[in-house]
Amino acid sequence: MRYRLNNIMQEIEFQVDLKKVLSKYQEEYFIIDSILYKLYKELFVGALNPKKIFQLVAKEKNKNIDTVLNIYEFFLQSNATRNSCIIAIGGGITTDIAAFAASTYKRGCGLILIPTTLLGMVDAAIGGKTGINYENIKNGIGSFYPAEKVIINTDFLGTQLEADYKGGFVEIIKMSFLPTSNLPEMLNNEQNIEEIIKEAIRTKIKLCQQDLHDKSSRRLLNLGHTFGHILESISNYKIPHGAAVAVGIRAAIRFSLKKGFIDSEVYRRIEKRLDKFDLPASFPGKYLPQLLEKGIFILKQDKKADDKLNLVLFKGLQELFFYKTENSIEVISTLQEFADV
Ligand SMILES: NC(=O)c1ccc[n+]([C@@H]2O[C@H](COP(=O)([O-])OP(=O)(O)OC[C@H]3O[C@@H](n4cnc5c(N)ncnc54)[C@H](O)[C@@H]3O)[C@@H](O)[C@H]2O)c1
Repeated sequence: MRYRLNNIMQEIEFQVDLKKVLSKYQEEYFIIDSILYKLYKELFVGALNPKKIFQLVAKEKNKNIDTVLNIYEFFLQSNATRNSCIIAIGGGITTDIAAFAASTYKRGCGLILIPTTLLGMVDAAIGGKTGINYENIKNGIGSFYPAEKVIINTDFLGTQLEADYKGGFVEIIKMSFLPTSNLPEMLNNEQNIEEIIKEAIRTKIKLCQQDLHDKSSRRLLNLGHTFGHILESISNYKIPHGAAVAVGIRAAIRFSLKKGFIDSEVYRRIEKRLDKFDLPASFPGKYLPQLLEKGIFILKQDKKADDKLNLVLFKGLQELFFYKTENSIEVISTLQEFADV
């Protein structure tokens, strides 16, 4: 699959022989998720120069500037130059950090991403966003730096934890609500995962091509994310991103119904798609006090210069739109209805 993003030609390769690919790049610089390095040792040991491998502990709390500084140090020590290629192998945490480091080291070096989680394959490695967290603000620092190549091998999914896999599936379901997507049909016919991944990527790329810098239509991909970010934040990331977004999408449907943008029939049909894939429908009630105490403050970070929130809501089963509101209380109280008590 080849496409143009910001005038740069990009390539996505599927199901390639990774051993062959790695041998081609053995003199380049690798940032590899440490869990993955252990799980797939036979792929790396002997094939790559150990001095050119940085193993990264892929935890959200490590997605910060300290880790990036350690990576810069590794680049310096191992003599990476602007002409070097950085190859990131791991989930969204690894590819986001590595891509940010690659985009800033010597003003930007080559970048290849090899996502190993479902979320990475359909979302994090696609569309050129890089990022690290800063002062409790998720992806508070980052850049737009599309990789020249993304290599997808679905064999990696075999070792993913089920909960993480489901989290990736939430993003696929989210994309299925976009008007240009063929995902609903494919999901109904239970097509194989490789075909579903390809269609999710096509759906995302269409939006990124219209709006790489996330100023307009690309923001439709935030469906469920404004609500979801609150849940991630109040639980100190104990509620995983995928589960938070799944509940966030449900909150967006409820909000759309309350405002009269959809009727109860459409509400039921949207919910049915989430239920079919057994996606989370509530969050632990123990986080309610934090929701009430911190929710408004968290939403403030999401507000735009005009002091308004930009929610992605439903107008129909496959029809989304932006809804501006200043009323944070209404948003919090809708989310509150999904507490498991
Ligand atoms: N750049 C973007 O556009 C974008 C989009 C969506 C999400 N993200 C970011 O992606 C991150 C989440 O990514 P993720 O869900 O892929 O999580 P992740 O990178 O944290 O990976 C989840 C866990 O799975 C392990 N792992 C990775 N691949 C594995 C495999 N094949 N087998 C076994 N274990 C494996 C990791 O070590 C980690 O413990 C968040 O930080 C989010 O902000 C970025």
